[in-house]
Amino acid sequence: MREGQCDVLQPDVIRKKLGQSVFAANIIFHETLSSTNTLAKNLGARGAPEGTLVLTEKQTAGRGRMGRRWLSPANANLLFSVLLRPVLEAEQVFSLTMVFALAIIDGLKKISGVSPVIKWPNDLYLAGGKLAGILTEFSVVGRSVEYVVFGLGLNVNWNPAEKEGTGYPATSILAEAGKRVSRTDLLVEILKRFEAYSGEAVSGRLGGFYKRWNERSMLLGKGVEIETANGRISGKASRIDRKGAIIILDEHGHEQRVLSGDVSVLDHTGHGSRLNASS
Ligand code: BTN
Repeated sequence: MREGQCDVLQPDVIRKKLGQSVFAANIIFHETLSSTNTLAKNLGARGAPEGTLVLTEKQTAGRGRMGRRWLSPANANLLFSVLLRPVLEAEQVFSLTMVFALAIIDGLKKISGVSPVIKWPNDLYLAGGKLAGILTEFSVVGRSVEYVVFGLGLNVNWNPAEKEGTGYPATSILAEAGKRVSRTDLLVEILKRFEAYSGEAVSGRLGGFYKRWNERSMLLGKGVEIETANGRISGKASRIDRKGAIIILDEHGHEQRVLSGDVSVLDHTGHGSRLNASS
């Protein structure tokens, strides 16, 4: 972006740049919203079409995983949710979160040059700070997925010096790349890739993605402790499987499979450090 250029999100411009993409068909933009995920879920329950994109400049009740809040100043970052209706069983949805993470990584590389890593299950980290968080929420009928909402909060043109009060070690593209980037171009790059990647993944072509999300994972080989709905699991993170579950080798050398949870990385003394303390 050139110095002095204004980076305003305009649905018409986004629609035009998205061209034939499924995400161009139903763009819902509000300057302020409680949460793009909440609105996208409500729309999903009321039959909104595949590809619905909900976008805002400011959230008054942005949500993260595990009931946390997502804080972001207005007009600086990307805050959006997309709705998909993939023909999948519920357990396969987690692999789409990994595919979404890869689409974000590739879009970021193209537009800004930064290269974050994935902190399973839903964060992107860059230089030790949290760059982005994904919130995946879905509805299931029987064993099949009715709709999935993928929400993204991505710190773009925000100076993390302003982060005081947010309570987590955040970073942004501006902080790491030292330049402002066009949020519109970044959004479009991410969405075009996500459309292509998710299409392949849903048709069962996961091989390349599976390899890449393992190569990009910052937890593998590390001692971790995971807080799950069924208690705590600790051991060494060994890989993320094809359904997006992390495989932990416990102290007895047995594999434990975890689909979702909150991870702490253990230091050599066995103490945990919460990388996403209050994301
Ligand atoms: C996390 O780090 O736990 C996930 C954060 C996800 C935040 C995004 S911002 C856009 C979308 N709407 C929300 O309310 N949350 C997601």
